[in-house]
Amino acid sequence: MRIAAVGDVHLGADSGGRLRPALADLPEHADVLLLAGDLTRVGTIAEAKVVAAEFADLGVPVVAVLGNHDHHSDRAGEITQLLADHGIIVLEGTATVLTVDGAALGIAGTKGFGGGFAGKCASAFGEPEMRRFASHTVELAHGLESALAGLRADVTVALTHYSPISDTLHGEPPEIYPFLGSYLLGEAIDANGADLAIHGHAHAGIERGTTPGGIRVRNVAQPVIGTEYAVYDLAPTGRFAPNR
Ligand SMILES: [Fe+2]
Ligand SMILES: [Fe+2]
Repeated sequence: MRIAAVGDVHLGADSGGRLRPALADLPEHADVLLLAGDLTRVGTIAEAKVVAAEFADLGVPVVAVLGNHDHHSDRAGEITQLLADHGIIVLEGTATVLTVDGAALGIAGTKGFGGGFAGKCASAFGEPEMRRFASHTVELAHGLESALAGLRADVTVALTHYSPISDTLHGEPPEIYPFLGSYLLGEAIDANGADLAIHGHAHAGIERGTTPGGIRVRNVAQPVIGTEYAVYDLAPTGRFAPNR
């Protein structure tokens, strides 16, 4: 199964056609395209229309999560609907199962959020603002965990915008790690297992890491992968196949 992925394309209202030419032969290289959030610059409907036009009808299924930039104009619900109207599956605490070459590819996704990593993280304590900040991560990590738990597929991928681990943040200033991801996302992934975890958001990070449980993590923020999309080839493991 060839899984193409990219995040942080940050398309503006004037970006129409920027990615489309490079995506024309996507079906020759991949069976599915995953979008790891920050599809827009400031989350306007005009930008989302450009995103929809760039990624609609590519000849392979497109599955996305939104990023923090896509929330900036408080239009995330409309953006989700607009992308869905163009055949792009947008996940938030939900999962989808696609059939690829007769095998089931399950993708569970959430935007995720910050909070930091074990020993250096926010907690839901004190001022209401702090409790809300920390609780948002907890809620979205729970959403990812239950979406993963409900999947029955031969290959499973966890798709987030924020990072589930700190490995892939190397290159970013350590002071901002708590705004780049949360270990709770990594725990949600390890609790249920996955064959691959994809995220974006850390433009100055590195591509490769693993969760504490040993699951491969790839930061596909476009400035990190330095190409239109990365492709990861996964063999069906049958680990979640219902009849075995
Ligand atoms: Fe970004
Ligand atoms: Fe981001």
